[in-house]
Amino acid sequence: MIGSKRRLKMILTFTLLMIPGALSFSVTGYTGGAVTITCQYHREYTTNSKYFCIGQKPYIPMPGWCSDVIRTNIKDKWVKSGRLSLYDDTTASVFNVTITDLNVRDSDTY
Ligand SMILES: *[C@@H]1O[C@H](CO)[C@@H](O)[C@H](O)[C@H]1NC(C)=O
Repeated sequence: MIGSKRRLKMILTFTLLMIPGALSFSVTGYTGGAVTITCQYHREYTTNSKYFCIGQKPYIPMPGWCSDVIRTNIKDKWVKSGRLSLYDDTTASVFNVTITDLNVRDSDTY
Protein backbone atom coordinates (compact mmCIF):
# COMPACT_ATOMS: atom_id res chain seq x y z
CA MET A 1 0.00 0.00 0.00
CA ILE A 2 1.17 3.48 -0.80
CA GLY A 3 -0.19 5.74 1.95
CA SER A 4 -2.86 8.37 1.68
CA LYS A 5 -1.04 10.64 -0.72
CA ARG A 6 -2.48 10.16 -4.17
CA ARG A 7 0.17 9.04 -6.58
CA LEU A 8 -0.33 9.67 -10.22
CA LYS A 9 1.37 7.60 -12.82
CA MET A 10 3.12 9.72 -15.38
CA ILE A 11 5.18 9.15 -18.43
CA LEU A 12 8.28 11.04 -19.38
CA THR A 13 9.69 10.69 -22.86
CA PHE A 14 13.40 10.95 -23.45
CA THR A 15 14.92 11.37 -26.84
CA LEU A 16 18.65 10.98 -26.99
CA LEU A 17 19.82 13.43 -29.58
CA MET A 18 23.51 12.77 -29.31
CA ILE A 19 22.99 9.46 -31.00
CA PRO A 20 22.47 9.59 -34.76
CA GLY A 21 18.99 8.38 -35.54
CA ALA A 22 17.76 9.69 -32.19
CA LEU A 23 16.93 6.87 -29.88
CA SER A 24 13.69 7.53 -28.07
CA PHE A 25 12.37 5.88 -24.96
CA SER A 26 9.81 6.47 -22.28
CA VAL A 27 10.25 6.38 -18.56
CA THR A 28 7.39 6.01 -16.15
CA GLY A 29 7.40 7.71 -12.80
CA TYR A 30 4.94 8.53 -10.05
CA THR A 31 4.17 11.91 -8.59
CA GLY A 32 6.33 12.45 -5.57
CA GLY A 33 8.71 9.74 -6.74
CA ALA A 34 11.95 9.83 -8.67
CA VAL A 35 13.31 8.59 -11.97
CA THR A 36 16.86 8.04 -13.15
CA ILE A 37 17.76 8.13 -16.80
CA THR A 38 21.05 6.70 -17.99
CA CYS A 39 22.55 7.94 -21.22
CA GLN A 40 25.45 6.14 -22.81
CA TYR A 41 27.75 8.32 -24.89
CA HIS A 42 30.63 7.74 -27.22
CA ARG A 43 34.06 8.11 -25.68
CA GLU A 44 34.86 11.05 -27.93
CA TYR A 45 32.29 13.09 -25.96
CA THR A 46 33.99 12.44 -22.60
CA THR A 47 35.25 16.01 -22.16
CA ASN A 48 32.05 17.66 -23.45
CA SER A 49 29.69 19.19 -20.97
CA LYS A 50 26.61 17.07 -20.39
CA TYR A 51 23.13 18.46 -20.29
CA PHE A 52 19.51 17.60 -20.21
CA CYS A 53 17.00 19.79 -21.97
CA ILE A 54 13.26 19.99 -22.56
CA GLY A 55 11.73 20.39 -25.98
CA GLN A 56 10.38 18.55 -28.95
CA LYS A 57 12.72 18.77 -31.89
CA PRO A 58 11.03 20.95 -34.51
CA TYR A 59 11.06 20.10 -38.20
CA ILE A 60 13.54 22.91 -38.77
CA PRO A 61 15.57 23.17 -35.55
CA MET A 62 16.25 26.76 -34.53
CA PRO A 63 18.76 27.78 -31.87
CA GLY A 64 17.23 27.52 -28.44
CA TRP A 65 14.56 24.98 -29.34
CA CYS A 66 15.68 22.85 -26.43
CA SER A 67 16.00 24.54 -23.04
CA ASP A 68 18.49 23.19 -20.55
CA VAL A 69 17.22 22.01 -17.23
CA ILE A 70 20.65 20.92 -16.07
CA ARG A 71 24.08 21.29 -17.64
CA THR A 72 27.50 20.64 -16.20
CA ASN A 73 31.13 20.22 -17.07
CA ILE A 74 31.93 18.56 -13.75
CA LYS A 75 32.97 14.92 -14.07
CA ASP A 76 32.57 11.90 -11.82
CA LYS A 77 30.60 13.75 -9.21
CA TRP A 78 26.90 14.36 -8.57
CA VAL A 79 25.89 17.86 -9.56
CA LYS A 80 22.59 19.04 -8.16
CA SER A 81 20.28 21.72 -9.50
CA GLY A 82 16.96 21.89 -7.73
CA ARG A 83 15.18 18.56 -8.19
CA LEU A 84 17.65 17.41 -10.82
CA SER A 85 21.02 15.78 -10.40
CA LEU A 86 23.50 14.76 -13.06
CA TYR A 87 26.46 12.41 -12.72
CA ASP A 88 28.88 12.07 -15.62
CA ASP A 89 30.70 8.78 -15.19
CA THR A 90 33.69 9.18 -17.51
CA THR A 91 34.98 5.66 -16.82
CA ALA A 92 31.76 3.98 -17.95
CA SER A 93 30.97 6.68 -20.57
CA VAL A 94 27.47 7.17 -19.23
CA PHE A 95 25.72 9.98 -17.47
CA ASN A 96 22.81 9.62 -15.15
CA VAL A 97 20.16 12.19 -14.56
CA THR A 98 17.85 11.89 -11.58
CA ILE A 99 14.67 13.88 -11.17
CA THR A 100 13.16 13.76 -7.71
CA ASP A 101 9.80 14.83 -6.30
CA LEU A 102 8.10 14.33 -9.66
CA ASN A 103 4.99 16.25 -10.55
CA VAL A 104 2.70 16.05 -13.57
CA ARG A 105 4.35 19.07 -15.18
CA ASP A 106 7.51 16.98 -15.53
CA SER A 107 5.72 14.88 -18.15
CA ASP A 108 7.41 16.17 -21.25
CA THR A 109 9.83 15.41 -23.99
CA TYR A 110 13.42 15.80 -22.95
C1 LIG B 1 24.14 5.19 -13.28
O1 LIG B 1 23.13 4.31 -13.74
C2 LIG B 1 23.60 3.01 -13.99
C3 LIG B 1 22.45 2.22 -14.61
O2 LIG B 1 21.25 2.42 -13.93
C4 LIG B 1 24.11 2.40 -12.71
O3 LIG B 1 24.60 1.10 -12.95
C5 LIG B 1 25.21 3.28 -12.14
O4 LIG B 1 25.62 2.77 -10.88
C6 LIG B 1 24.73 4.71 -11.98
N1 LIG B 1 25.83 5.55 -11.53
C7 LIG B 1 25.72 6.34 -10.48
C8 LIG B 1 26.93 7.16 -10.16
O5 LIG B 1 24.70 6.42 -9.81
